[in-house]
Amino acid sequence: MLKLSKLPHLVALFAIFVSVKAWGRDGHALVADLAQTLLTFEAATFVKLHLPLEANGNMSNVSVWADNILYANTEPNYLNWRWSAPLHYVNTKDFSCVYDRQTDCDWASTRGCVDGAIQNYTTRLGDKQLDETQLEEALKFIIHFIADVHQPLHGGFASDLGGNSIRGDFFGQTVNLHSLWDTTMIQRKINTKFQSQRSLYLNYLIDQMNGRFGSNISDWSQCSSTNDTRYLACSSIWIQEDAELCCKIVYLDENGDWITAATGFNITEEYYNTRMESVELRLIQGGVRLANVINRIVHLINQTDGTNDTQTLSAASLPLIAFILICFVFFN
Ligand SMILES: *[C@@H]1O[C@H](CO)[C@@H](O)[C@H](O)[C@H]1NC(C)=O
Ligand SMILES: *[C@@H]1O[C@H](CO)[C@@H](O)[C@H](O)[C@H]1NC(C)=O
Ligand SMILES: *[C@@H]1O[C@H](CO)[C@@H](O)[C@H](O)[C@H]1NC(C)=O
Ligand SMILES: *[C@@H]1O[C@H](CO)[C@@H](O)[C@H](O)[C@H]1NC(C)=O
Ligand SMILES: *[C@@H]1O[C@H](CO)[C@@H](O)[C@H](O)[C@H]1NC(C)=O
Ligand SMILES: *[C@@H]1O[C@H](CO)[C@@H](O)[C@H](O)[C@H]1NC(C)=O
Ligand SMILES: *[C@@H]1O[C@H](CO)[C@@H](O)[C@H](O)[C@H]1NC(C)=O
Ligand SMILES: [Zn+2]
Repeated sequence: MLKLSKLPHLVALFAIFVSVKAWGRDGHALVADLAQTLLTFEAATFVKLHLPLEANGNMSNVSVWADNILYANTEPNYLNWRWSAPLHYVNTKDFSCVYDRQTDCDWASTRGCVDGAIQNYTTRLGDKQLDETQLEEALKFIIHFIADVHQPLHGGFASDLGGNSIRGDFFGQTVNLHSLWDTTMIQRKINTKFQSQRSLYLNYLIDQMNGRFGSNISDWSQCSSTNDTRYLACSSIWIQEDAELCCKIVYLDENGDWITAATGFNITEEYYNTRMESVELRLIQGGVRLANVINRIVHLINQTDGTNDTQTLSAASLPLIAFILICFVFFN
């Protein structure tokens, strides 16, 4: 049980972790909830089988596991997970607006960034040699990292640590640019337009996804121009989208001026309203792509199961074939 006296401490720690890592709790839950509505029946069954029992087959319930394991207050063995911290993001060269897998993610060796992690864990989830613990880990990382990779500042500039070292004012609140995009803008939207209820906001996003963006979904599911096509996990393309958003709307204010650590920022209604549209687009794209990837992996696993079935079938029919052959030889 949590001691009440520890609460302020926990809140402070939570604020710190949110500021360095990815979509906050709401963003991650929303991406997972959106994806959940798009799972095929077989994928939903697979997810339920491989998530911890208490998650009840609901991806939203494990969507911040990958963040929680990094901190002492949420994971007693957090030091054992420290290796996974760099897998939540990648930094791009300042003002380049380009993601280069080779240099930005050290593709020839470690691949220790969100791009490498998505390739790693999608491949692992499809690998039948892995044990249950490893499959569960892979699934939980995929649910988290495919959301992270759609937060534009997870492909942000290297010198300001993806916006973490740029501080400014958001309607009277002092925040850094990274947590503004992770958490603060989303919270303002939920609090001001959806009676502080994430579930109402989710319904709104589901309507947007199926309505206004319905015709875009097949485009977002394309994954043809790289080598990442097997599982539809086009992480390098998604990070390139981040890099472009960073240069067009994240680090650029509504007057076209760059936001840097030196300038800071003072967010206007106009910045908030226009950028919020992109936040929502990215949450929806993240949900669509997370579902696509899981659906595809499970489909391929099912297909190879089918191949095994065929092999079993032909093994079973071997005696019959032998019998026909014998008859053929005998009657000739
Ligand atoms: C595999 O796919 C087929 C056809 O879509 C489906 O009927 C079957 O239930 C799936 N098997 C599993 C194990 O999900
Ligand atoms: C997970 O989600 C289900 C609803 O789908 C809920 O009943 C359950 O309490 C949740 N579990 C946890 C651990 O959050
Ligand atoms: C999944 O769990 C989340 C968080 O507990 C909850 O908000 C959501 O409604 C659940 N989804 C389903 C489909 O039960
Ligand atoms: C791939 O997954 C394994 C198992 O979790 C891990 O040890 C390794 O560091 C991962 N590599 C990347 C690039 O994600
Ligand atoms: C959605 O599709 C329409 C029509 O093809 C296109 O004009 C628009 O740019 C697309 N929007 C996004 C966000 O991809
Ligand atoms: C795809 O893989 C091949 C061989 O591994 C490599 O030469 C090529 O550059 C890769 N293409 C992309 C777009 O990553
Ligand atoms: C930000 O702008 C608002 C409204 O223009 C102003 O009241 C506030 O003092 C500004 N804050 C800072 C830190 O400049
Ligand atoms: Zn993260």
